[in-house]
Amino acid sequence: MTEAPRLLVFDSGFGGLSVVAEIRKALPAARLTYLADTAVFPYGDLAEADLVARVAALMAEAMPRFAPDAVVIACNTASTLVLPDLRARFTLPIVGTVPAVKPAAETSVSRMVSVLATPGTVKRDYTRGLVAAHGQDCRFTLVGSKRLAPLVEAEFAGQAVADADLLAEIAPCFVEEGADRTDTVVLACTHYPLVLARLRNLAPWPVTWIDPAPAIARQVARVTSTVAREPAGEGAEAGRGGGEGADVFYATGRLPPEGLTERYGFLRQLAFA
Ligand code: DGL
Repeated sequence: MTEAPRLLVFDSGFGGLSVVAEIRKALPAARLTYLADTAVFPYGDLAEADLVARVAALMAEAMPRFAPDAVVIACNTASTLVLPDLRARFTLPIVGTVPAVKPAAETSVSRMVSVLATPGTVKRDYTRGLVAAHGQDCRFTLVGSKRLAPLVEAEFAGQAVADADLLAEIAPCFVEEGADRTDTVVLACTHYPLVLARLRNLAPWPVTWIDPAPAIARQVARVTSTVAREPAGEGAEAGRGGGEGADVFYATGRLPPEGLTERYGFLRQLAFA
């Protein structure tokens, strides 16, 4: 039983903070290291081979350095592609973030569901497979937005993002067919829940927005409850590779604005070098 698991949370940018918020609630004692690949952000349109190679290379560096008990890939664009490769390379638990198709199909009354994601996530075989396996009789509209994650990132960096720009990205999710219309939208990019209040206000009509972060946090709690931790003392941390960086937000490129990561419990922000 791990009382205070060390977790490495990874995303292309700040989006994984939506997952961090839920992990903090589910596991208040957990020590979190965050790694944002802001040097390459956005991942949304990256070639699949480049994305697999990039995440594998970063993880190969980060794993021995941070010595986590588990890793959270808080990025749908990466998770829908790289999880098999990462699980083949590393033996520790790796929790991914993939579109919440199943809960959406269980929720929808109109049987019209939209998945709002990056272009990469909507074109993945993995995502299509989720819809085929768990979409039940719902009609799915897969919306791949190129701009929404960068807009969220801009807003968090202190730039003003116009309502019209956000609305243009979510509008294709709202589909009317005869008397039926979309009643459920899956937030299949971890950036989107960070602006959920604005999306709700801009929506042409009310829908149920599905944010998978609470379910991911529960899964993290499950996997870390069975992780065997080396006993404290006698160089236990050193034995795990040093485990630097608890509660530090690292970024490969641009760092977040002062104050943002503090709100999510990170004491410092540093360049990942
Ligand atoms: N936060 C990432 C996700 O969940 C995507 C952002 C990006 O395009 O890099 O898909």
